[in-house]
Amino acid sequence: MNLILMGLPGAGKGTQAEKINDKYNIPHISTGDMFRLAIKEGTDLGKQAKEYMDQGALVPDEVTIGIVKERLSKSDCKNGFLLDGFPRTIAQAEALQELLKELDTSIDYVIHVDVPEEKLVERLTGRRICPTCGATYHVIYNPPKVEGICDKDGSQLIQRDDDTAETVKNRLSVNMEQAKPLLDFYQNKGYLVTVNGDQEINQVFQDIQSRIDK
Ligand code: AP5
Ligand code: ZN
Repeated sequence: MNLILMGLPGAGKGTQAEKINDKYNIPHISTGDMFRLAIKEGTDLGKQAKEYMDQGALVPDEVTIGIVKERLSKSDCKNGFLLDGFPRTIAQAEALQELLKELDTSIDYVIHVDVPEEKLVERLTGRRICPTCGATYHVIYNPPKVEGICDKDGSQLIQRDDDTAETVKNRLSVNMEQAKPLLDFYQNKGYLVTVNGDQEINQVFQDIQSRIDK
């Protein structure tokens, strides 16, 4: 199954992706995670991406499309994949269509996790992540068993660099501008499935499952 998870920053794409990955066993491909890894490793890609991410801006299309092409061409994507945070522009969506055609495959569902804008700032500023395994928590909505400590590996949780109030504001406005044309693009192709992301985390996942297991 080939899936795309769409939604504004903080909508819960990463949170749902972990659950989809556990259940359906398809590789979770997050462009945001790929950029953060490149930054951590100090590669050229990381240096390039950091400039944009720190401001809450989008990394240029040619860079982003390049890394997704490389990743989707790997053999573990042959039986399905889950794209999270890509595509984010029409140019990226068109490049993806072309690439999937070359790979002789297509999208099954584009899952739009829909959350009212006013909820997103609180979700982002309260998010904590594990630097070791990448697990995502929230200080109120999804706290770890021991405050500040990852349930899975005991690492000290941290805040993402771009989850500061100022950067969050930019990320939301940049992404909101891009969202509507992209949703229309996939609606017109008949792939779009919208789920209410303003519910408890497990309920959102149940709704996703009931839509894609049909
Ligand atoms: P990326 O890492 O993709 O960030 P994003 O899109 O801003 O999305 P987030 O990861 O912030 O949110 P999410 O929807 O995954 O929410 P989460 O599950 O964590 O991108 C980062 C940057 O990289 C971009 O700004 C850009 O610069 C660059 N980039 C990436 N892709 C790009 C592309 N294609 N083109 C160009 N540039 C690109 O949840 C958020 C919080 O809410 C958590 O604390 C979670 O525990 C909590 N939560 C989740 N679900 C619920 C719920 N149902 N109820 C209550 N709380 C919840
Ligand atoms: Zn961890």
